[in-house]
Amino acid sequence: MCGIVGYIGKRRARDYIIQGLKILEYRGYDSAGLAVFDGCGKINCIKRAGYVSQLESATIGTEGNCGIGHTRWATHGAPSDVNSHPHTCGKFTLVHNGIIENFVSIKSQLANKGKRFLTQTDSEAIAVFLDDVYDGDVIKALSAALKKLKGSFALAILCKDFPDKIFVVKKQSPLVVGIGDAECFVASDCMAFSQYTDKAVYLKDNEIGEVSSQGIKLFDGNGNRKAVKIEKTATEYFAPADCKSFMYKEIYEIPKAVQYTAEEFFANDEKKLGVVDIFSKNDKVVMIGCGTAYNACLVGKNIFETVLRVPVEVELASEFRYKNPIIDDKTVVVAVSQSGETADTIAGVRLAKSKGADVVVITNVAHSSITRYADMVLHTKAGAEVAVAATKSYLTQILLFLCVATVLSDDLKSVAAIKKEIESLPQLTQKTLALDEQVHKLAKEFCKKQSVFFIGRGLDYALALEGTLKLKEVSYIHSEGFASGELKHGTLALIDKNALVIAVVTQRHVAEKTCNALHEVQARGGKVVIITPFEKAKNDVECDAFLQLPSSSGLIAPMSAIIPLQLFAYYMSIERGINPDKPRNLAKSVTVE
Ligand code: AGP
Ligand code: GLU
Repeated sequence: MCGIVGYIGKRRARDYIIQGLKILEYRGYDSAGLAVFDGCGKINCIKRAGYVSQLESATIGTEGNCGIGHTRWATHGAPSDVNSHPHTCGKFTLVHNGIIENFVSIKSQLANKGKRFLTQTDSEAIAVFLDDVYDGDVIKALSAALKKLKGSFALAILCKDFPDKIFVVKKQSPLVVGIGDAECFVASDCMAFSQYTDKAVYLKDNEIGEVSSQGIKLFDGNGNRKAVKIEKTATEYFAPADCKSFMYKEIYEIPKAVQYTAEEFFANDEKKLGVVDIFSKNDKVVMIGCGTAYNACLVGKNIFETVLRVPVEVELASEFRYKNPIIDDKTVVVAVSQSGETADTIAGVRLAKSKGADVVVITNVAHSSITRYADMVLHTKAGAEVAVAATKSYLTQILLFLCVATVLSDDLKSVAAIKKEIESLPQLTQKTLALDEQVHKLAKEFCKKQSVFFIGRGLDYALALEGTLKLKEVSYIHSEGFASGELKHGTLALIDKNALVIAVVTQRHVAEKTCNALHEVQARGGKVVIITPFEKAKNDVECDAFLQLPSSSGLIAPMSAIIPLQLFAYYMSIERGINPDKPRNLAKSVTVE
C-alpha cells in the first residue's frame, strides 16, 4: 500500500515530506524514509523501521529543496531498516507504492549481469533495472521500465544527473502531482498537499512525469509528450495530530456524516434522475466491496430486497475479480469503497465494465481512482476517515443504499416513512453515542476475553459481521460473527463459561429467535450482552449487560446499533494498550492485491 510523497520548490523539502507522510500514514506505517538533494548534487537518504514520527526526529536539519519520501506497508521483505524505502542503485533513488509481480525474474536477470541487491523488497529491482538501462535519458529508461515491470506501481524517482527534478511513473497505484506557485508536490493522495494547493494533475496508467518547480511535463509509455490536464482537487485538509484517536473522533463525527450525506444526495435532482435511469435500464444488481464496504453491501442487499423487492447478489470484490461472474450489459454493479483505492474493488469494477455492465461507485473520496471507471459516482460525505477501522463511512454507505431505494421505489407511503427516518438519523446517532460510558465499562470488564462472538438475524447478522471485523482489527481478539440460528449447527460447541456472546437485536420479527439462541448460550455458561431498542428483550433474557438503543424502525436501527459495536472495539483496543488508529499488519488503503 504505502504512501509516497515528493517536493520540489522553495521550501525545505524535508518539512513537506514529513508532514505529507504523516497525512499518508493511513496507507502504511511499517517504516518510513526520505531522500533529499542537499543542494550540491548529493542525495541524503534516511530511512528506518517504525512510524513517521521516528523519521521526523532522525531528519531534523536535513536541508534541500527537492526530495521524495515513503511510508511503507511491507509486501515483500520484513519491515526492517534496510527494506525501508527509498532504494538506491547508481544514480537512481526511488520510492515505490505497489507490487512488482515479476521482480524475481528481473532480479535474477540482473544478478546474472553482476548487479548486487541489498534488500528483500521487490522495489529495489526497479532501481537496479533503471541503473542498468540508463544512458543519460531518464524518460527512455522509465519507458523501458514500464514495458519490463509487471504489477502495480506508483514511483517517485530522483536521478543524480537532474537535481532539480522528480520523475514519476504510474501504473495502477495512484499518483497525483500538486501544482503550486513555483513549487510542485507529489503524493499518493492529494490530501497530502491540499493545504498548499488545490490544482493537481492526476496521472493515468502508463504515464511518466518530469516534475520541476515550474510544473510537470507528461509522457506516454513510449516517451512521447502528452498534454497536461490540471484539475481542481476537492479534499479537506485535516491536521494529523489534532486528536487523541482518529477512530474515536470519527465515531463522534457520525451524526454530521449522515446529515451531510443525505443532504448532498437529496439536493441533487440530476443525480437522482441518473440513479433511476441506470437502475431501470438494467435487470440485475450486483454489489461488491471488501471488508467493511462488503459488510455495508450485505446491508444494502437487505435494504434493496426489502424496499424494492428486487434480488441482489453481493460478492467480495477480491473473489469477484477472479471468477467469471454472470454479468452482462443488463447488469448494474454497485462498487463500494471508502477510499476508492482498494485494488480488488477497482479490478472488480474494470471487469464489470469489460463485460458491458453499468457501474455505480459509492465512495468517500471524490477524485479517487475508482471514480475514473464509474458510470455514476455517489459520494458519501463522511469527511476524511483516517483511522484504519472504517466507522463513519460504513454508516454513510448504508445510508446511500437507503437513499437510492427511496428514489427507485414507487411505494410512496413507505418512501415517505423512510425519508422521515433518514431526516431523524443525525439525532438518532447522536442519542446512541450516549451509550459511550456504558460501552467503556463493558470493555473494561471483558478486555481479557480470548474470544468474542457476535450474533444476529437478517440485518442484524450483517451487523454482527461488521462488529466482529471491527473488534478483530483493533483489539486482536479472536472473534466471529454468526447468524443466530446457525449457532446450534456447530458453533455452540465453542461456547463455555469463557465465551462472550454479543447479540444485536433490532429486527422485531426475529427478535425472539435471537433471544432463544442466547438462552442456549447461557445454558452452556456463556456470558451474554444484548444491544437492542426493544426493552422487552431484557425480560426475555437475563443478560450480563443490556445496551438500550433509542427506538427506530427496522431499516434504520442498524445505523444506530453499529455505534456501540464500534465503540466496543475502540475501548477494547484502548484497554488492551493498542493504538486503535494503527493496528498491526494493516493499512487504511489496500492498494495492492
Ligand atoms: C475496515 O475497518 C477495514 N479497515 C477494511 O476492511 C476496509 O473496509 C477495506 O479494506 C475496504 O476499504 P475501502 O472501503 O477503502 O475499499
Ligand atoms: N512492494 C513494496 C514493498 O514491500 C511496496 C509496498 C506497497 O506499496 O504496499 O516495500
